[in-house]
Amino acid sequence: MDVPKQTFEHLSTFNNCHQIPDGWKVSCANSECTMHQLSPYIGKLKSTIAKSLISTYSKPGDTVVDPFSGSGTIPLEARLQGRHVFASDISPYAGLLSRAKLFSPGSMDEALAQAEEMFYESQSVEEPDLEKVPDWVRKFFHGETLSEAIRFAEVCKHRKSSDFIFACFLGILHHQRPGFLSYPSSHLVPYLRDKKYPREQYPEMYEYRELRPRLMAKVKRAYKRFYGYPQNVSGVFEESSVDSIALPRQFECIITSPPYMNALDYGRDNRLRLWFIDPVSAVSVDHNQSQQKKGFELVLAALAEKIDKSLTSGGYAVFVVGDEISRSYVSHPSEVVVKIMLENSSFLRLENVFTDVIPDIRRSRRDYRGIKSEHFLVFKKVM
Ligand SMILES: C[S@@+](CC[C@H](N)C(=O)[O-])C[C@H]1O[C@@H](n2cnc3c(N)ncnc32)[C@H](O)[C@@H]1O
Repeated sequence: MDVPKQTFEHLSTFNNCHQIPDGWKVSCANSECTMHQLSPYIGKLKSTIAKSLISTYSKPGDTVVDPFSGSGTIPLEARLQGRHVFASDISPYAGLLSRAKLFSPGSMDEALAQAEEMFYESQSVEEPDLEKVPDWVRKFFHGETLSEAIRFAEVCKHRKSSDFIFACFLGILHHQRPGFLSYPSSHLVPYLRDKKYPREQYPEMYEYRELRPRLMAKVKRAYKRFYGYPQNVSGVFEESSVDSIALPRQFECIITSPPYMNALDYGRDNRLRLWFIDPVSAVSVDHNQSQQKKGFELVLAALAEKIDKSLTSGGYAVFVVGDEISRSYVSHPSEVVVKIMLENSSFLRLENVFTDVIPDIRRSRRDYRGIKSEHFLVFKKVM
């Protein structure tokens, strides 16, 4: 049966978008599952929003897909709510966090025992030659701490099923607080805060920082509000670009936040953590083509076709898209996403659009005048 195609020009929905429901905005730092706080990620979705989208647009037992999973917020919430999960992302750091959240050890005691074992294994790894470590990495750490950290990362890289502990380690890599490994620096994007905390005035912030107690404390924090996953739901993560990924043959819901074109640079902003995962990827993720407009459009077009084919009839595709407005430049990736979805699918219809204005506090760099609003684009498959 032929169904009339929706075109961007004839959309009234996009012009009449709604403010997001109040419940989506509820603060979650003291109530969300603490696994969400494993390690920071730029462009991370608020877990209350992920939770609301999942409960509104899918039901228990459904398969929820997130092909731009980033730090794994949607996959974790989906799994906690009894959905099967298929997640993917191009970045090794995103992959590590997504897997860590989807497949964490069954209990805190198990995780602590694993961390302990890995720490002792790292003690027998050969001392690294710090002269060979790039300056931009070295300047973040006391030499002894860096040596311990490199040896521990080696164990994480070579040991099976160590993603959760590796993610905990990356989560304590840099910050200005005492529970972290670096000299005083920011937590999200790595830059030193040595002007605010000069070495002469704060010598204790520049001393050796022992890894083991900090790692153990981090593992405990991760389990503070985590009560296990519901039974009988599966999780899959694939590290791949969206254009080459094979999505499940059938799924009931896709909820995802695509990269914001040029607005965020996942390679540069995660560079220190990426260096510990793989020094080569720390450089190459910078050139990720989907951050350019053309690449972004191609990747989304490929995704639209896959969704059209495999989303079940009546299923929802929800896109969370940041729009960038600065004094000199206005860009609306959400319009681009709507156009591409409608042009490259036969059965997707834009059913609803919600909008949210993001306060300055969530912006990630001081000089960054980027995303100011977020659109939630809700498509439904009509047959
Ligand atoms: C806005 S972030 C997702 C954030 C995520 N929802 C969260 O809560 O952490 C977009 C993600 O798209 C990923 N990405 C960029 N280009 C990609 C591509 N071609 N294929 C798959 N993932 C890609 C980036 O690595 C980034 O993690």
